[in-house]
Amino acid sequence: MNIKSSCRAALWAASLAPGMALAAPAAPFFFYDQSDDFINAMVARISDESADQGLHVTFNDARSDAGLQSDELHRDQSPSILVVNPVAASNSEESLLLAKELSIPVIFFNRPPEEGMLDQYDKAWYVGVEPRKAGIYQAHLMISYMQDRDGWDRNKNGMLDIVLIKGEHSHVDTVSRTSAFKQAMALTNNELNIIAEAYCDWDRDKAREFFRTTVSSLGLKDVEAVICNNDAMALGVLDMLKERGPLPGYGSNGYIPVIGVDGIDEALEAVAGQRMAGTVMQSPRIYARALVGLALQLLEGGEIDDSALGAVVSDDRFVEIPYEVVDRQRAQEMVKENSRR
Ligand code: GAL
Repeated sequence: MNIKSSCRAALWAASLAPGMALAAPAAPFFFYDQSDDFINAMVARISDESADQGLHVTFNDARSDAGLQSDELHRDQSPSILVVNPVAASNSEESLLLAKELSIPVIFFNRPPEEGMLDQYDKAWYVGVEPRKAGIYQAHLMISYMQDRDGWDRNKNGMLDIVLIKGEHSHVDTVSRTSAFKQAMALTNNELNIIAEAYCDWDRDKAREFFRTTVSSLGLKDVEAVICNNDAMALGVLDMLKERGPLPGYGSNGYIPVIGVDGIDEALEAVAGQRMAGTVMQSPRIYARALVGLALQLLEGGEIDDSALGAVVSDDRFVEIPYEVVDRQRAQEMVKENSRR
């Protein structure tokens, strides 16, 4: 905790004592769906970070229901700020209008508002990733896997045969991660052959069932890798593979290379234990620090100090959360760090 935030925390604690007038700065957070594994990890980190930095937070879970999020957004008559992970474009639009009407800041995160919306209001911000980078890093993990293993082309057809498991249809992360992965692979001399693909909405169970159906119709011999737009779906693939037990001829661990995105704890353990070939981390800790820090700074007014946010701030009010490539070695370090926390 830095000095500024520890002072804030002390002031906040003092403000909770009976009779004291000073109240902690407060920010309502609106999540699209807290049952989403990555969002859930973020909620936990935001709780810790807000306690550390002295921001009073309230959490609203829209459970993927745009109508419910709309009600939640209008529940508080006089919020000082809105921190919104929109369910749908309609929610981004109404958050922006509401913030404008009340003349308060609005921070969008994880799911960006429609193009051009941030330009309409100088107190509107976006905290998120640059999704194309995740697809490029997944290709990087795939290529280094292939370089390490001469036998990756198990069916000897001269192509890399993959199953592609995608997130929500039209979600910018789904579209950009997938296309960037394909483009990055096309730059190498390896031909990519997509033998099956589906949208599984970031969901572990849907991915497991899709992979089960794929394997029962096509068999496993042509599946040389599984690329997933996130870790929850990669873990769904592992669930199904685990039911079958180790696969003969698939190396010492009997596993197919499965690559995800997010770096949630269970996936880090799977990468460390070589059940997954890698993931691309978007750290909930970095997200939380940036979101809570930005909310506090906006509530205080004045210039934004990006050094306190731990993320890069661009002129168009985009706070970029960095990705990190996680291979086995890095995952082992991260699992160790997590166990010390
Ligand atoms: C992505 C993340 C997914 C899911 C999605 C929700 O960035 O990789 O796991 O949480 O956001 O918008």
